[in-house]
Amino acid sequence: MIVALNNKCNLGKEEFIKYLEELNNIKTTHKMILAPTFINIPNVKTTTLDLAAQNVSCDTNGAHTGEVSAEQLKSYDVKYCIVGHSERREKQKETNEEIKLKIEKLFEQDIIPILCCGETKEERLEGKEKEIIEEELRVALDSLEEEKKNKVIIAYEPIWSIGTGLIPTNEQIEEINKFIKSKYNNKVLYGGSANDSNIDELKKCKTIDGYLLGGLSLKPGNLQDFVNKL
Ligand code: 13P
Repeated sequence: MIVALNNKCNLGKEEFIKYLEELNNIKTTHKMILAPTFINIPNVKTTTLDLAAQNVSCDTNGAHTGEVSAEQLKSYDVKYCIVGHSERREKQKETNEEIKLKIEKLFEQDIIPILCCGETKEERLEGKEKEIIEEELRVALDSLEEEKKNKVIIAYEPIWSIGTGLIPTNEQIEEINKFIKSKYNNKVLYGGSANDSNIDELKKCKTIDGYLLGGLSLKPGNLQDFVNKL
């Protein structure tokens, strides 16, 4: 299983160094991927974790103030990059078209995208969840060559579940994952309030290939319990 840790905008320099020590002590055979904030990337010293970024520029190196390019990420041994997280779609107004460009830039540097998709509470109440996810994945993936497309890791993150403690039922997760897998030959992670208390139930979903963890990523002790139960 893949266990990807999205630190989001958390941990200053000293906090991160201490955190990383604890993270490096986690014992597991699962594949662990760490996505710190950009400024903590140079401080990652590890033999047990693969390095990810939380975002990438649509552009290559040049006059793009405040951006970080895929080429720069590559120079820091970044192997994966989250794209299309709902927090960026909402606050930075990222579009499916921009996310597609980001994925192309990542592949130019052999960095594997972790593409997030998922519906809001309103969209689910209106029964539009599959329509939304289908569109997010179609625009981002369908023009890619088959070989590249298959490498993308998809993360199903229902927006109403992120940081809320609300978890979809296993049936709801299975339904979405089966829908995604009927169209794409990709690994699908689940993200949204997953933790060491609900993993016993979540892991009954046989279509989940791993997890994208936000809040839990910041708690190495609970993370050890999570991977033990996985
Ligand atoms: P939480 O695990 O805090 O709900 O966050 C999930 C997430 O957004 C991971 O990208």
